[in-house]
Amino acid sequence: MSAPVPAADRPMTAPEFAAAKGQRKLAVLTAYDYTTARIFDAAGVDAILVGDSLGMVVQGHSDCLRVTLEEMIYHTRCVSRGARHALVIGDMPFLSFQLSAEQALANAGRLVKEGDAHAVKLEGGERSAVAIERMVAAGIPVMAHIGLTPQSLRQFGGFKVQRDARRLKADALAVEAAGAFAVVVECVPTELAGELTALVKIPTIGIGAGSKCDGQVLVGADMLGLFDDVRPRFVRRFAELGEAMRRAAEEYCRDVRAGTFPGEENSFK
Ligand code: KIV
Repeated sequence: MSAPVPAADRPMTAPEFAAAKGQRKLAVLTAYDYTTARIFDAAGVDAILVGDSLGMVVQGHSDCLRVTLEEMIYHTRCVSRGARHALVIGDMPFLSFQLSAEQALANAGRLVKEGDAHAVKLEGGERSAVAIERMVAAGIPVMAHIGLTPQSLRQFGGFKVQRDARRLKADALAVEAAGAFAVVVECVPTELAGELTALVKIPTIGIGAGSKCDGQVLVGADMLGLFDDVRPRFVRRFAELGEAMRRAAEEYCRDVRAGTFPGEENSFK
């Protein structure tokens, strides 16, 4: 489990991502803009997910349900420009793939053609298998997403840990059989996520699913300490950038008001 991250001068491919299973743990973060993507890419993340969590983090909604395909395409394109090494995965928003496999393929194609996504992600296990098959048959790499799928939050009745082992196993096997190259497993107890990881040959990427998955994904703004609206137990805050930004902005206000900014060094003669 300790092979180095490949240092190719091109983005990682979906097959390379999948081949890391059993070799090393995969590190994935979400980002929605060029600058953040560049920083995460330089840090060596394996993949950047342009998640529909941008509905909460960027747009300030209380869930992800209002995000449109046009918005996903725009943000995916911004992230793609900043990613030299990481695989860029565009998320398919609510109702952009549920109507039919044709709708799913057409919209996944737009994420690839207009958003420069290297792969797409969509929620759902068995219920999304036909759509996944259709996209994979058309040459689009697909990451699946099972367990707590936020687009079905109203059906779940909130952010609840998913414990139905039979359902989760059937979902994991269904997306693997449909051709997904990886699967996000969200809010599942550690032991059960470990069983899913042993059950399938594709990497499981956990979020709130403990340490036994093949990799982890976190919302970038959560782990950087930028986003405070919700603080899930599964997030570790690796920095407190929100606090650092507030202090910097306070200093800026103070210096402008005191007339000490701009200084000579910031001015033209
Ligand atoms: O939208 C998102 O950011 C996601 C991840 C949290 C897995 O789906």
